[in-house]
Amino acid sequence: MAFDRRFLDELIERSDIVDVVGSYVPLTKKGANYWACCPFHNEKTPSFSVSQDKQMCYCFGCKKGGGVINFVMEMENLSYPDAVRFLARRANMTVPEETRDDGSRLRARILQLNRDAARFYYEQLHSPKGAAVLEYMKSRRITPKNAVNFGLGAAADEWDGLITAMRQKGYGDGELLASGLAVRGKSGGIYDKFRKRLIFPVIDVRGDVLAFGGRIVDKNDPGAKYMNTQETAVYSKRRVLYGLNLARKSRRENIILVEGNIDVVMLHQAGFDNACASMGTALTPEQIRLLSRYTREVVLCYDNDDAGKIATQKALSLLNDADLRVSVLELPKRLVDGQYVKQDADDFIKFHGADAFEHLLSGSESGIDFRMAQIAGQFDLREDRGRIEYAAAAAKLLAALPNAVEREVYTVRAAETAGISADAMKLEVNRALRQKLYREKKAQERSNLNPAASLQPKERTIRYDDLRSALAEEGVLRLLVLDDSLFGQEPPLQEADFSSPLLGRFFTALWTQAKQNGSVSVGALAGEFTQEEISHLSGILQKPESLKNAAQALQDYCRIIREEARKRTAADRDPLAAATEKYKYKGNGGKQP
Ligand code: UTP
Ligand code: MN
Repeated sequence: MAFDRRFLDELIERSDIVDVVGSYVPLTKKGANYWACCPFHNEKTPSFSVSQDKQMCYCFGCKKGGGVINFVMEMENLSYPDAVRFLARRANMTVPEETRDDGSRLRARILQLNRDAARFYYEQLHSPKGAAVLEYMKSRRITPKNAVNFGLGAAADEWDGLITAMRQKGYGDGELLASGLAVRGKSGGIYDKFRKRLIFPVIDVRGDVLAFGGRIVDKNDPGAKYMNTQETAVYSKRRVLYGLNLARKSRRENIILVEGNIDVVMLHQAGFDNACASMGTALTPEQIRLLSRYTREVVLCYDNDDAGKIATQKALSLLNDADLRVSVLELPKRLVDGQYVKQDADDFIKFHGADAFEHLLSGSESGIDFRMAQIAGQFDLREDRGRIEYAAAAAKLLAALPNAVEREVYTVRAAETAGISADAMKLEVNRALRQKLYREKKAQERSNLNPAASLQPKERTIRYDDLRSALAEEGVLRLLVLDDSLFGQEPPLQEADFSSPLLGRFFTALWTQAKQNGSVSVGALAGEFTQEEISHLSGILQKPESLKNAAQALQDYCRIIREEARKRTAADRDPLAAATEKYKYKGNGGKQP
């Protein structure tokens, strides 16, 4: 663990979760718990609970939860160590010298290596080996000044330029591989990942170089146009936006999201220093959370081709749930030789100039306008048939709007587009609303009828392979947290008995805490488990568990777990028998035996 255990315990002790959460959202006491509207998702009735006893919070709506450190990580979008430092400042405690574990030592080394590599690429851009890249950069009209602003660099046309330089600085091959800067070849040696490319360092809001993107500079280069660092110990692409390190300092009131690295670089150059990009991937909830720390309004400016439109739709529906205003800046297509071709932000600025972009920016439409226009484009509104179909499709979209006033306003507008009366359109929207409620009710009934499905964790990466065992495993964890004195000196189960590896890891971690400190604390697990994992545990601990007959319950749970573990070992030996076993399950209406 990165922090001294006693320090952590005291920090958690002095950071009462009710105080900390209460400083962000107003809490109301009801029963044993405090309640608030969840700060992590949009809601009108409180489903976010805070338990003073357990020093835990949990949202029954979005299923996020954890101890006080997890809460701060989520709320302030901080890493684990930063959240600890944040709380320490708040509690007036000095953070003891961190005893670095292997993981954080490696992360620190990779960050150092990335910084050195960025400097190496940067210097190379202006050396003879970088000539081709510099030439390309000029052809894209990137000014030297702006290249410095973004720390752009050059990877030369060689297999070991970077690794040789970095080895000389003392980095080992393991570190070079772990940073993603080097790749292992078939012969077993390693070589430079980025070759003959314009290099874009990916820098986070703290100024750390997390990763790199590289663009080919030669049309005939057979490689992918862009190459990015894969996920590493310091880089998770879901959590980073290219250019946000600069965009967050912009004095403009919103943040523009574009698709590509060059779009970001060129927008900044043209005076739009509020642009950033999610490099080649769909916008994620983590990125939205990050954005919401720096702005109240996001402008989507994706490419105006089909892929860009789909990306816009997806981003809009995600942003709908966040407390951010959204608008869509739709770039016009450009007429070339009688044909309309797509333009991205970079093209637009190049052909039409910064003023024209400024004009589009000030008039960018709200997200709903964009989607309504898109729907309108799908139908022939000169035909009755088309107008009827348009009205139905628009009504479906309008029924999904949570805000009644907005629904009203756009219903009138849709009526105008369809050329029907506002009243007729209203009827159509009401019908869509009823259908939506009906579908939701049906879905709820289905999940009531199929409890097995609703018992599966919501988080897709945490699935239970053996539901019967997993539910018993959950029970064991609950009892351990409620009263570890039920358990005696020796663990009743081994981690390997658990069907769910994650639940097994929780068991070991909590058991170790109980034995070492005489108590268990979910809050102190924040350093060992991911946010999703801790949320999952918080959900488990929220389920009811009675301490009456707890000893018996524990025995039953353990018996089930051992039984299922035996079945699994048997299945390993005789897969055919296991298959028929599964088949029987189905014939049983999906019920557990
Ligand atoms: P695009 O392919 O839309 O950018 O990729 P573009 O405008 O045509 O590229 P330029 O202007 O010629 O340089 C948009 C972004 O998607 C990611 C990159 O981050 C890129 O900036 N991407 C694209 C990849 O990661 N890999 C690829 O092969 C292509
Ligand atoms: Mn482009």
